[in-house]
Amino acid sequence: MTAEWVDVIAGAEVTTAPRGVVVDGHHLVVVRLTEDGPPVAFGGRCPHRLVPLAAGDVVGGRLRCAYHGWEFGADGSCLEIPSLGPAATAPPRAALAAARCREEAGRVRVLAADLAALPAQPAAAAPDGGGPGVLTNEDPALARAWHPVAFATELGSAAEPSRVTLLGREWTVWRDVAELRADPVPYGLTVRWGLVWLAPAEPLVPLFTEPDVEDAAFVGAWLRPAATPAPAGFVADNFLDVAHFPFVHAGTFGAGEEKIVEPYEVVAEPDGFRSTQVQWFDNPEDPGVAAGLRPLRQRRRATYVYRAPFQLLLRLEELDAGAVKTILFVMRPESLTSTVVYTKMLLRDIGGVALPGGAVVASEVAYEERVVGEDLALQAQLGLTGLPLVLRDELHVRADRLGVALRRALAAFVESAQR
Ligand code: FES
Ligand SMILES: [Fe+2]
Repeated sequence: MTAEWVDVIAGAEVTTAPRGVVVDGHHLVVVRLTEDGPPVAFGGRCPHRLVPLAAGDVVGGRLRCAYHGWEFGADGSCLEIPSLGPAATAPPRAALAAARCREEAGRVRVLAADLAALPAQPAAAAPDGGGPGVLTNEDPALARAWHPVAFATELGSAAEPSRVTLLGREWTVWRDVAELRADPVPYGLTVRWGLVWLAPAEPLVPLFTEPDVEDAAFVGAWLRPAATPAPAGFVADNFLDVAHFPFVHAGTFGAGEEKIVEPYEVVAEPDGFRSTQVQWFDNPEDPGVAAGLRPLRQRRRATYVYRAPFQLLLRLEELDAGAVKTILFVMRPESLTSTVVYTKMLLRDIGGVALPGGAVVASEVAYEERVVGEDLALQAQLGLTGLPLVLRDELHVRADRLGVALRRALAAFVESAQR
Protein backbone atom coordinates (compact mmCIF):
# COMPACT_ATOMS: atom_id res chain seq x y z
CA MET A 1 0.00 0.00 0.00
CA THR A 2 1.40 3.39 -0.92
CA ALA A 3 1.47 6.07 1.71
CA GLU A 4 -1.29 8.59 1.43
CA TRP A 5 -0.42 12.29 1.56
CA VAL A 6 -2.86 15.08 2.32
CA ASP A 7 -2.54 18.49 0.70
CA VAL A 8 -2.18 21.21 3.34
CA ILE A 9 -0.99 24.53 1.95
CA ALA A 10 1.01 26.21 -0.82
CA GLY A 11 4.74 25.97 -0.12
CA ALA A 12 5.11 29.70 -0.78
CA GLU A 13 2.86 30.39 2.21
CA VAL A 14 5.07 28.47 4.61
CA THR A 15 7.83 30.66 6.03
CA THR A 16 9.67 31.04 9.32
CA ALA A 17 6.50 32.72 10.67
CA PRO A 18 4.52 29.76 12.08
CA ARG A 19 1.17 29.31 10.47
CA GLY A 20 -1.91 27.63 11.92
CA VAL A 21 -3.97 25.50 9.52
CA VAL A 22 -6.95 23.21 9.96
CA VAL A 23 -6.98 20.09 7.73
CA ASP A 24 -9.83 17.60 7.95
CA GLY A 25 -10.61 18.89 11.45
CA HIS A 26 -6.99 18.56 12.64
CA HIS A 27 -5.27 21.70 13.91
CA LEU A 28 -1.67 22.01 12.73
CA VAL A 29 1.15 24.48 12.82
CA VAL A 30 3.29 24.56 9.69
CA VAL A 31 6.63 26.36 9.59
CA ARG A 32 10.17 26.39 8.15
CA LEU A 33 12.82 26.30 10.85
CA THR A 34 15.31 27.99 8.51
CA GLU A 35 14.61 30.38 5.59
CA ASP A 36 15.19 27.79 2.86
CA GLY A 37 14.63 24.70 4.97
CA PRO A 38 11.93 22.06 4.47
CA PRO A 39 8.51 22.62 5.97
CA VAL A 40 7.68 20.87 9.26
CA ALA A 41 4.22 20.31 10.75
CA PHE A 42 3.14 19.69 14.34
CA GLY A 43 -0.02 19.51 16.40
CA GLY A 44 -1.18 23.11 16.75
CA ARG A 45 -0.99 23.67 20.52
CA CYS A 46 1.85 23.80 23.02
CA PRO A 47 1.51 20.95 25.54
CA HIS A 48 2.38 23.30 28.42
CA ARG A 49 -0.57 25.72 28.54
CA LEU A 50 -2.27 24.83 25.24
CA VAL A 51 -1.30 28.12 23.59
CA PRO A 52 -1.45 27.99 19.77
CA LEU A 53 2.05 27.54 18.40
CA ALA A 54 1.08 29.77 15.48
CA ALA A 55 1.53 32.65 17.96
CA GLY A 56 5.20 31.68 18.39
CA ASP A 57 8.29 32.33 16.30
CA VAL A 58 11.42 30.63 15.01
CA VAL A 59 14.68 31.23 16.84
CA GLY A 60 17.97 29.53 16.08
CA GLY A 61 16.34 26.85 13.93
CA ARG A 62 13.75 25.96 16.55
CA LEU A 63 10.05 26.68 16.94
CA ARG A 64 9.54 28.76 20.09
CA CYS A 65 6.22 29.07 21.92
CA ALA A 66 5.09 32.65 22.52
CA TYR A 67 4.07 32.21 26.16
CA HIS A 68 7.04 30.71 28.02
CA GLY A 69 9.55 30.26 25.25
CA TRP A 70 9.68 26.45 25.17
CA GLU A 71 11.71 25.47 22.10
CA PHE A 72 10.99 22.55 19.77
CA GLY A 73 13.20 20.89 17.14
CA ALA A 74 12.36 19.56 13.66
CA ASP A 75 11.17 16.20 15.04
CA GLY A 76 8.93 17.92 17.61
CA SER A 77 11.12 17.15 20.61
CA CYS A 78 11.25 19.85 23.27
CA LEU A 79 14.85 21.05 23.40
CA GLU A 80 14.60 23.77 25.99
CA ILE A 81 12.33 24.89 28.82
CA PRO A 82 13.82 28.26 29.78
CA SER A 83 12.30 28.35 33.30
CA LEU A 84 14.24 25.15 34.12
CA GLY A 85 17.52 26.41 32.65
CA PRO A 86 19.55 25.18 29.65
CA ALA A 87 20.93 22.10 31.43
CA ALA A 88 17.52 20.60 32.22
CA THR A 89 15.99 17.77 30.20
CA ALA A 90 12.40 18.32 29.11
CA PRO A 91 9.87 15.68 30.16
CA PRO A 92 8.92 13.35 27.27
CA ARG A 93 5.35 14.65 27.27
CA ALA A 94 6.69 18.08 26.29
CA ALA A 95 7.35 16.82 22.75
CA LEU A 96 5.02 17.92 19.95
CA ALA A 97 3.33 15.34 17.77
CA ALA A 98 4.92 15.75 14.34
CA ALA A 99 3.36 15.00 10.97
CA ARG A 100 5.83 14.08 8.23
CA CYS A 101 5.83 16.63 5.39
CA ARG A 102 6.64 16.56 1.71
CA GLU A 103 6.95 19.60 -0.56
CA GLU A 104 6.29 18.96 -4.26
CA ALA A 105 5.16 21.09 -7.15
CA GLY A 106 4.64 24.06 -4.90
CA ARG A 107 2.41 22.25 -2.42
CA VAL A 108 3.05 21.04 1.11
CA ARG A 109 1.52 17.67 2.00
CA VAL A 110 1.50 15.72 5.24
CA LEU A 111 1.31 11.97 5.74
CA ALA A 112 -2.34 11.05 6.30
CA ALA A 113 -1.51 8.53 9.03
CA ASP A 114 0.46 11.15 10.96
CA LEU A 115 -2.32 13.66 10.53
CA ALA A 116 -4.83 11.19 11.94
CA ALA A 117 -2.55 10.51 14.92
CA LEU A 118 -2.31 14.17 15.98
CA PRO A 119 -3.87 14.90 19.36
CA ALA A 120 -7.46 16.08 19.24
CA GLN A 121 -8.27 19.67 20.13
CA PRO A 122 -8.33 19.97 23.94
CA ALA A 123 -11.70 20.02 25.67
CA ALA A 124 -10.83 23.55 26.88
CA ALA A 125 -10.99 24.72 23.25
CA ALA A 126 -14.52 23.40 22.62
CA PRO A 127 -16.95 26.21 21.73
CA ASP A 128 -19.14 25.25 24.71
CA GLY A 129 -16.21 24.86 27.10
CA GLY A 130 -15.85 21.11 26.94
CA GLY A 131 -17.85 19.99 29.97
CA PRO A 132 -16.61 18.75 33.35
CA GLY A 133 -12.95 19.18 34.19
CA VAL A 134 -12.79 22.54 32.43
CA LEU A 135 -13.73 25.82 34.12
CA THR A 136 -15.49 28.22 31.78
CA ASN A 137 -16.85 31.69 32.44
CA GLU A 138 -20.36 30.23 32.51
CA ASP A 139 -19.75 27.43 34.98
CA PRO A 140 -22.77 27.35 37.35
CA ALA A 141 -20.38 27.11 40.32
CA LEU A 142 -19.31 30.72 39.68
CA ALA A 143 -22.74 31.92 40.82
CA ARG A 144 -21.45 31.22 44.36
CA ALA A 145 -18.92 34.11 44.26
CA TRP A 146 -18.64 37.88 44.37
CA HIS A 147 -18.00 39.46 40.96
CA PRO A 148 -17.10 43.09 40.14
CA VAL A 149 -19.77 44.66 37.92
CA ALA A 150 -18.98 48.41 37.80
CA PHE A 151 -17.06 51.24 39.38
CA ALA A 152 -19.16 52.61 42.24
CA THR A 153 -18.77 56.15 40.88
CA GLU A 154 -20.13 55.13 37.49
CA LEU A 155 -23.20 53.24 38.63
CA GLY A 156 -26.37 54.60 37.06
CA SER A 157 -29.65 55.55 38.68
CA ALA A 158 -32.98 53.70 38.31
CA ALA A 159 -33.63 55.82 35.22
CA GLU A 160 -30.29 54.89 33.66
CA PRO A 161 -29.17 51.58 35.12
CA SER A 162 -25.84 49.98 34.26
CA ARG A 163 -26.19 46.90 32.08
CA VAL A 164 -23.67 44.16 32.61
CA THR A 165 -23.08 40.64 31.40
CA LEU A 166 -22.07 38.16 34.08
CA LEU A 167 -21.80 34.36 33.76
CA GLY A 168 -23.61 34.49 30.42
CA ARG A 169 -26.60 36.42 31.83
CA GLU A 170 -27.63 40.05 31.44
CA TRP A 171 -28.06 42.06 34.62
CA THR A 172 -29.13 45.62 35.28
CA VAL A 173 -27.60 47.29 38.31
CA TRP A 174 -28.43 50.71 39.72
CA ARG A 175 -28.31 52.92 42.75
CA ASP A 176 -31.62 53.76 44.41
CA VAL A 177 -30.75 56.67 46.76
CA ALA A 178 -28.27 54.90 49.11
CA GLU A 179 -29.28 51.34 48.16
CA LEU A 180 -27.77 49.16 45.46
CA ARG A 181 -30.24 47.22 43.37
CA ALA A 182 -30.03 44.68 40.57
CA ASP A 183 -32.34 42.77 38.28
CA PRO A 184 -32.58 39.79 38.43
CA VAL A 185 -32.36 40.12 42.22
CA PRO A 186 -29.03 38.60 43.33
CA TYR A 187 -28.09 37.12 46.69
CA GLY A 188 -25.94 40.15 47.47
CA LEU A 189 -24.60 43.53 46.32
CA THR A 190 -21.84 45.48 48.01
CA VAL A 191 -19.16 48.11 47.41
CA ARG A 192 -15.48 47.42 48.07
CA TRP A 193 -12.28 49.13 46.83
CA GLY A 194 -14.45 51.46 44.73
CA LEU A 195 -16.11 48.60 42.84
CA VAL A 196 -19.67 47.33 42.99
CA TRP A 197 -19.72 43.57 43.62
CA LEU A 198 -22.58 41.21 42.85
CA ALA A 199 -23.03 37.66 44.14
CA PRO A 200 -25.75 35.81 42.19
CA ALA A 201 -26.02 33.16 44.94
CA GLU A 202 -24.61 32.85 48.44
CA PRO A 203 -20.82 33.30 48.07
CA LEU A 204 -18.54 30.50 49.21
CA VAL A 205 -15.63 32.90 49.75
CA PRO A 206 -15.76 36.43 51.21
CA LEU A 207 -14.00 39.35 49.54
CA PHE A 208 -10.45 39.20 50.86
CA THR A 209 -9.14 41.74 53.35
CA GLU A 210 -5.60 41.65 51.96
CA PRO A 211 -5.65 44.96 50.04
CA ASP A 212 -7.44 46.89 52.78
CA VAL A 213 -4.36 48.10 54.67
CA GLU A 214 -2.73 49.25 51.49
CA ASP A 215 -5.91 50.93 50.36
CA ALA A 216 -5.55 53.43 53.20
CA ALA A 217 -1.78 53.85 53.38
CA PHE A 218 -0.96 53.89 49.67
CA VAL A 219 -1.92 56.02 46.70
CA GLY A 220 -4.34 53.97 44.62
CA ALA A 221 -5.30 54.22 40.98
CA TRP A 222 -7.33 52.01 38.66
CA LEU A 223 -6.27 51.04 35.18
CA ARG A 224 -8.96 51.25 32.51
CA PRO A 225 -10.94 48.00 32.66
CA ALA A 226 -9.77 45.68 29.89
CA ALA A 227 -11.73 43.07 27.95
CA THR A 228 -10.18 39.79 26.90
CA PRO A 229 -11.60 36.77 25.05
CA ALA A 230 -9.67 34.45 27.39
CA PRO A 231 -11.58 32.69 30.18
CA ALA A 232 -11.09 34.19 33.65
CA GLY A 233 -9.35 31.02 34.86
CA PHE A 234 -6.66 31.44 32.20
CA VAL A 235 -6.30 35.16 32.99
CA ALA A 236 -5.84 34.33 36.69
CA ASP A 237 -3.20 31.74 35.77
CA ASN A 238 -1.46 34.32 33.59
CA PHE A 239 -1.40 36.78 36.54
CA LEU A 240 0.19 34.18 38.84
CA ASP A 241 2.76 33.15 36.24
CA VAL A 242 6.35 34.38 36.42
CA ALA A 243 7.95 32.28 33.68
CA HIS A 244 6.32 34.28 30.86
CA PHE A 245 7.93 37.61 31.77
CA PRO A 246 11.00 37.39 29.47
CA PHE A 247 8.85 36.35 26.49
CA VAL A 248 5.47 38.11 26.70
CA HIS A 249 6.86 41.24 28.39
CA ALA A 250 10.06 41.66 26.39
CA GLY A 251 8.69 45.06 25.22
CA THR A 252 8.33 46.44 28.77
CA PHE A 253 10.05 45.01 31.82
CA GLY A 254 10.64 41.44 30.66
CA ALA A 255 13.94 41.76 28.83
CA GLY A 256 15.82 42.23 32.09
CA GLU A 257 14.03 39.40 33.89
CA GLU A 258 15.65 36.15 34.86
CA LYS A 259 14.50 33.25 32.66
CA ILE A 260 15.16 30.54 35.23
CA VAL A 261 12.47 30.32 37.90
CA GLU A 262 14.01 29.10 41.13
CA PRO A 263 11.94 26.71 43.26
CA TYR A 264 9.41 28.50 45.47
CA GLU A 265 6.81 27.51 48.01
CA VAL A 266 3.06 27.95 47.83
CA VAL A 267 1.39 28.11 51.23
CA ALA A 268 -2.23 27.00 51.44
CA GLU A 269 -4.64 29.39 53.15
CA PRO A 270 -8.42 29.20 53.61
CA ASP A 271 -10.03 29.46 50.14
CA GLY A 272 -6.71 30.08 48.43
CA PHE A 273 -2.98 30.40 48.90
CA ARG A 274 0.01 32.72 49.11
CA SER A 275 3.52 32.56 47.70
CA THR A 276 6.57 34.74 48.22
CA GLN A 277 9.49 34.75 45.82
CA VAL A 278 12.60 36.92 45.77
CA GLN A 279 13.50 37.87 42.20
CA TRP A 280 16.29 39.81 40.48
CA PHE A 281 15.20 42.59 38.16
CA ASP A 282 16.46 45.76 36.45
CA ASN A 283 15.19 48.94 38.11
CA PRO A 284 15.88 51.90 35.78
CA GLU A 285 13.07 53.88 37.50
CA ASP A 286 14.99 54.07 40.77
CA PRO A 287 16.59 57.56 41.07
CA GLY A 288 19.26 55.90 43.23
CA VAL A 289 20.52 54.14 40.10
CA ALA A 290 21.11 57.40 38.20
CA ALA A 291 22.69 58.90 41.33
CA GLY A 292 25.11 55.98 41.53
CA LEU A 293 23.82 54.90 44.94
CA ARG A 294 22.53 51.51 43.83
CA PRO A 295 23.15 49.10 40.95
CA LEU A 296 20.60 48.70 38.15
CA ARG A 297 20.19 45.02 39.02
CA GLN A 298 18.18 44.84 42.24
CA ARG A 299 16.17 42.45 44.37
CA ARG A 300 12.42 42.41 44.65
CA ARG A 301 10.16 40.38 46.93
CA ALA A 302 7.01 39.32 45.10
CA THR A 303 4.09 38.08 47.18
CA TYR A 304 1.13 36.55 45.38
CA VAL A 305 -2.16 36.19 47.24
CA TYR A 306 -5.08 34.27 45.78
CA ARG A 307 -8.69 33.68 46.85
CA ALA A 308 -11.12 31.59 44.82
CA PRO A 309 -12.29 32.04 42.24
CA PHE A 310 -10.82 35.30 40.89
CA GLN A 311 -9.46 37.56 43.64
CA LEU A 312 -5.74 38.15 43.14
CA LEU A 313 -3.08 40.41 44.50
CA LEU A 314 0.60 40.86 43.84
CA ARG A 315 2.74 42.89 46.25
CA LEU A 316 6.12 43.92 44.85
CA GLU A 317 8.57 45.19 47.45
CA GLU A 318 11.76 46.57 45.97
CA LEU A 319 14.22 45.44 48.61
CA ASP A 320 17.02 47.78 47.57
CA ALA A 321 15.14 50.91 46.43
CA GLY A 322 12.32 50.66 49.02
CA ALA A 323 9.36 51.20 46.68
CA VAL A 324 6.24 49.10 47.23
CA LYS A 325 3.75 48.45 44.44
CA THR A 326 0.68 46.34 45.02
CA ILE A 327 -1.49 45.21 42.16
CA LEU A 328 -5.07 44.20 42.94
CA PHE A 329 -6.41 42.12 40.07
CA VAL A 330 -10.04 41.02 39.87
CA MET A 331 -12.24 39.90 37.02
CA ARG A 332 -15.79 39.62 35.80
CA PRO A 333 -16.43 36.42 33.83
CA GLU A 334 -18.90 37.73 31.27
CA SER A 335 -19.47 34.90 28.82
CA LEU A 336 -17.70 31.94 27.21
CA THR A 337 -15.63 34.36 25.15
CA SER A 338 -15.27 37.43 27.34
CA THR A 339 -13.71 38.46 30.63
CA VAL A 340 -13.42 42.00 32.00
CA VAL A 341 -10.26 42.68 34.00
CA TYR A 342 -10.05 45.36 36.72
CA THR A 343 -6.55 46.25 37.90
CA LYS A 344 -5.79 48.65 40.75
CA MET A 345 -2.31 49.86 41.61
CA LEU A 346 -1.45 50.79 45.19
CA LEU A 347 1.81 52.72 45.35
CA ARG A 348 4.19 53.81 48.09
CA ASP A 349 7.74 55.16 48.25
CA ILE A 350 8.16 55.31 44.48
CA GLY A 351 11.41 57.10 43.70
CA GLY A 352 11.92 57.75 47.41
CA VAL A 353 8.67 59.77 47.80
CA ALA A 354 6.32 58.30 50.46
CA LEU A 355 3.06 59.10 48.68
CA PRO A 356 3.72 59.57 44.97
CA GLY A 357 2.16 62.56 43.20
CA GLY A 358 -0.24 62.61 40.28
CA ALA A 359 2.37 62.54 37.52
CA VAL A 360 4.18 59.54 39.00
CA VAL A 361 0.90 57.68 39.53
CA ALA A 362 -0.23 58.46 35.96
CA SER A 363 3.02 57.16 34.54
CA GLU A 364 2.89 53.99 36.68
CA VAL A 365 -0.68 53.36 35.50
CA ALA A 366 0.24 53.98 31.85
CA TYR A 367 3.18 51.60 32.14
CA GLU A 368 1.08 48.90 33.80
CA GLU A 369 -1.54 49.27 31.04
CA ARG A 370 1.20 48.51 28.52
CA VAL A 371 2.20 45.45 30.56
CA VAL A 372 -1.40 44.22 30.75
CA GLY A 373 -1.72 44.97 27.02
CA GLU A 374 1.10 42.51 26.30
CA ASP A 375 -0.77 39.76 28.14
CA LEU A 376 -4.02 40.66 26.37
CA ALA A 377 -2.33 40.48 22.94
CA LEU A 378 -1.35 36.86 23.61
CA GLN A 379 -4.73 36.02 25.14
CA ALA A 380 -6.44 37.31 21.97
CA GLN A 381 -4.80 34.46 20.02
CA LEU A 382 -5.68 31.76 22.52
CA GLY A 383 -8.90 30.21 21.24
CA LEU A 384 -9.71 28.59 24.61
CA THR A 385 -13.09 28.80 26.34
CA GLY A 386 -11.97 27.27 29.61
CA LEU A 387 -9.13 26.45 31.99
CA PRO A 388 -8.39 22.72 32.37
CA LEU A 389 -8.75 21.70 36.02
CA VAL A 390 -7.48 18.17 35.41
CA LEU A 391 -3.72 18.45 35.81
CA ARG A 392 -2.77 15.89 33.14
CA ASP A 393 -4.60 17.91 30.46
CA GLU A 394 -1.62 20.30 30.47
CA LEU A 395 2.04 19.86 31.38
CA HIS A 396 3.30 21.42 34.60
CA VAL A 397 6.94 22.08 35.42
CA ARG A 398 8.69 23.44 38.52
CA ALA A 399 7.83 27.07 37.73
CA ASP A 400 4.13 26.19 37.64
CA ARG A 401 3.51 25.52 41.31
CA LEU A 402 1.25 28.56 41.53
CA GLY A 403 -0.65 27.41 38.45
CA VAL A 404 -1.10 23.95 39.92
CA ALA A 405 -2.31 25.49 43.20
CA LEU A 406 -4.77 27.62 41.21
CA ARG A 407 -6.22 24.62 39.38
CA ARG A 408 -6.56 22.69 42.65
CA ALA A 409 -8.23 25.65 44.42
CA LEU A 410 -10.65 26.14 41.52
CA ALA A 411 -11.47 22.42 41.42
CA ALA A 412 -12.17 22.52 45.18
CA PHE A 413 -14.30 25.64 44.69
CA VAL A 414 -16.39 23.97 41.96
CA GLU A 415 -16.77 20.87 44.09
CA SER A 416 -18.00 22.78 47.14
CA ALA A 417 -20.43 24.75 44.97
CA GLN A 418 -21.92 21.46 43.79
CA ARG A 419 -22.41 20.12 47.31
S1 FES B 1 5.65 27.46 26.60
FE1 FES B 1 3.92 27.16 25.43
S2 FES B 1 2.31 27.58 26.80
FE2 FES B 1 4.06 27.71 28.05
FE1 LIG C 1 1.99 38.97 32.06
